[in-house]
Amino acid sequence: MLASSEDRIAGAVSRLGSESAFEVLARARALEAQGRKVVHMEIGEPDFDTPAHIKKAAVDSLMAHDTHYTPSAGIVDLRQTIADYATAFRKMDEPYTVENVVVAPGAKPVIWNILSAILNPGDEFVYFDPAYPAYASAASYLQANITAIPLLESRDWRFDLDELERRVSDKTKVVVINSPHNPTGGVLLKADLERIAALAQKHDFLVIADEIYSRNFYFDHEFDSIASLPGMRDRTIVVDGFSKAYAMTGWRLGYAIMAPELAKIVTLFNNNTFSCVATFVQKAGIAALTGPDDDVKRMNDIFRQRRDRLIDGINTIPGITCKLPEGAFYAFPNIKAITDNDKALASFLLTEAGIACLGGSSFGAAGKGHLRFSYAASFEDIDLCIARLQEFLPKFPG
Ligand SMILES: Cc1ncc(COP(=O)(O)O)c(C=O)c1O
Repeated sequence: MLASSEDRIAGAVSRLGSESAFEVLARARALEAQGRKVVHMEIGEPDFDTPAHIKKAAVDSLMAHDTHYTPSAGIVDLRQTIADYATAFRKMDEPYTVENVVVAPGAKPVIWNILSAILNPGDEFVYFDPAYPAYASAASYLQANITAIPLLESRDWRFDLDELERRVSDKTKVVVINSPHNPTGGVLLKADLERIAALAQKHDFLVIADEIYSRNFYFDHEFDSIASLPGMRDRTIVVDGFSKAYAMTGWRLGYAIMAPELAKIVTLFNNNTFSCVATFVQKAGIAALTGPDDDVKRMNDIFRQRRDRLIDGINTIPGITCKLPEGAFYAFPNIKAITDNDKALASFLLTEAGIACLGGSSFGAAGKGHLRFSYAASFEDIDLCIARLQEFLPKFPG
């Protein structure tokens, strides 16, 4: 007798999470196919085109016949370029080298491969809540023992460091941080990073620092990386990529920087999964990091203006309040005066108001009572979003 289709699926699949942005995007596209106008504030991707010099590097590479397999860790030229960029950008005392860098088709698969390389079942994995869903999905798939520390709106979406101190121990294998942060736009301050670094050294744990939004940063001072703090270079795994800074989400190019011994294991996971990243995409990455930086600055200036427009607008609407995000391109307003059921409100806004946004609880329990809006959208769409929120929020049946 044939097995039922349920029996054919591995039990471990039930431990996988999922990124709701892609699910809501699909629902929004289905509404658009029916002729509805939808304002896209759900997916975290710059609406700008990839800068021309980056596209040209990929085309030139294709025309030069770069159409074959490459090494699983990435081509040496790109890894060297990343090492040089990361050394300068993060002000590292000891430079990174090619051996520290592993390239992947996006930051997301490299997060999966890093966690696969370090987590045994039962290992203590500490992260924060709300969070980008990929960390907990991989950690729970790998059967780690997961601790989620809530981020506090009252601390501009940073940890309570005393709570972090209470929740880590000599058993902690790894702590994940993400600054600037998806979904709140919060940024860890240098004092936060110093305290986390001190705890990492005291308890001998690794830190995964997801710095994919490090170029989407609106403070007047420069971005601080935990990797550059004393004693942290080799116990920090920096995750970064090209999607957000260079408007390259669809190219699928990311990387991580770590101690060489670990880089070899992560490379083995690359080898076992996607083999390697397309050569012309890697050549485009070299052009992004070595070419003019004006486009990154231009896009960031516009993001900052859009942020101000969205947050100012939201804060004029009764029942909804929003902290000023200092990085990334997300607003995470509090809607508790209207409802706790953020997912129902997000669904109502999509079907009734034509606004695609995400319920905060899809990023973890501490996101309950919030919505996430991506302001990687035009001024026109931001204005339409505010006008529709004004009109439709009072109509939410609750
Ligand atoms: C915090 C964070 N890390 C990693 C990623 C993955 O980016 P990509 O796989 O496009 O490089 C994202 C994408 O939304 C993100 O928000």
